[in-house]
Amino acid sequence: MSAVQSPVIPIVAEWTRARPGTISLGQGVVNYGPPKSAMDAIADFAADPENHKYKLVHGIPRLLETIQKKLAEENRIRVSDSQRIVVTAGGNMGFVNAILAVASAGEEVILLSPYYFNHEMAVSIAGCKCVVVGTDEKFRPRVGAIANAITRRTRAVVTISPNNPTGAVYPELILRQINDLCRDSGIYHIHDEAYEHFVWDGAQHYSPASDDGAWPHTISLFSLSKSYGFASWRIGYMVIPEHLFEAIRKIQDTILICPPVISQFAAAGAMKEGPAYCREKLKAIGEMRALVAEELKEIGRFCTIAPAAGAFYFFMKVHTHLDAMTMVERLIREHGVAVMPGSTFGMEEGCYLRIAYAALSKETVKEGIGRFVAGVKKIVGAA
Ligand SMILES: Cc1ncc(COP(=O)(O)O)c(C=O)c1O
Repeated sequence: MSAVQSPVIPIVAEWTRARPGTISLGQGVVNYGPPKSAMDAIADFAADPENHKYKLVHGIPRLLETIQKKLAEENRIRVSDSQRIVVTAGGNMGFVNAILAVASAGEEVILLSPYYFNHEMAVSIAGCKCVVVGTDEKFRPRVGAIANAITRRTRAVVTISPNNPTGAVYPELILRQINDLCRDSGIYHIHDEAYEHFVWDGAQHYSPASDDGAWPHTISLFSLSKSYGFASWRIGYMVIPEHLFEAIRKIQDTILICPPVISQFAAAGAMKEGPAYCREKLKAIGEMRALVAEELKEIGRFCTIAPAAGAFYFFMKVHTHLDAMTMVERLIREHGVAVMPGSTFGMEEGCYLRIAYAALSKETVKEGIGRFVAGVKKIVGAA
């Protein structure tokens, strides 16, 4: 475990606590909770004393059926007899399940940089090697570079779209090319769709498992944490080829036995609302996105900000000799605003910062981004 990076969030949280009144634009969560239908479903859970016992490792039938329907309608993934849906305790658990199922210690997993830190940590915890491949100037995958990084020890390529931390939405063509590359190389494509509903500016979300013939080597990870305001309820799910089911059942049985049944009832209730629930919330989040984008123009000469048509992040490179951790610490201490340093996401060269804008009220985001802009101007302008 000493070889595994320590999450930076507790460090930033400590700095934030030490400077009362700091506004955090660091948290990758939404500012709303689950729909009422989720709470109503808890009554069904409570009505049957059998629900206090262990249930199926891979999820309760009512939730599995709801997910199957959703996948067909929203993702164009028609789950066949050759595939399985596995309910997990969140998307992170789905990722750990996938890595433990497909890779042995010493084998390699390709991550794209910047990566989601828990993915990097999971690969390291499994005793595997992360092979990190850079993305292009818009943070999109470079398929040729991924192909060049594949060795005989590679077991999987990991992609996230819409992306954390960059907000990039990967074009369908690129995801299909990665599918093909993985098929031809005899490895898996693990695709994380935690932000599937968060797309902007006409961008389209594409699920690579909907590609005909992709099922034998594609593992899709989903989460209710963001779309349904479900972060603390710990419900996600994965779509896997049938041949991985035994392995994943062993892993999940050992770690979890079954996803919390009360949360599964709530999830089945929440999903009755469909994507309309999240879409409704996107209006207010979209206003905050526009506000942040407008404010950031003020510091355009101090930073490079790539287009972000997805998730609820902006990922920027600040033109300064200061490293990201120093920048974050100074922004908190001197200006009362917290963001995440790019180094957490594997961007060690250069001062990258991630701004998250969905966790707070519009007024607080306005105040926070104002402080951020003033802070960057002062720190970089004076440097
Ligand atoms: C890309 C990505 N995957 C997974 C997760 C975690 O999701 P869950 O709460 O379902 O474990 C996050 C959370 O920020 C994320 O950004």
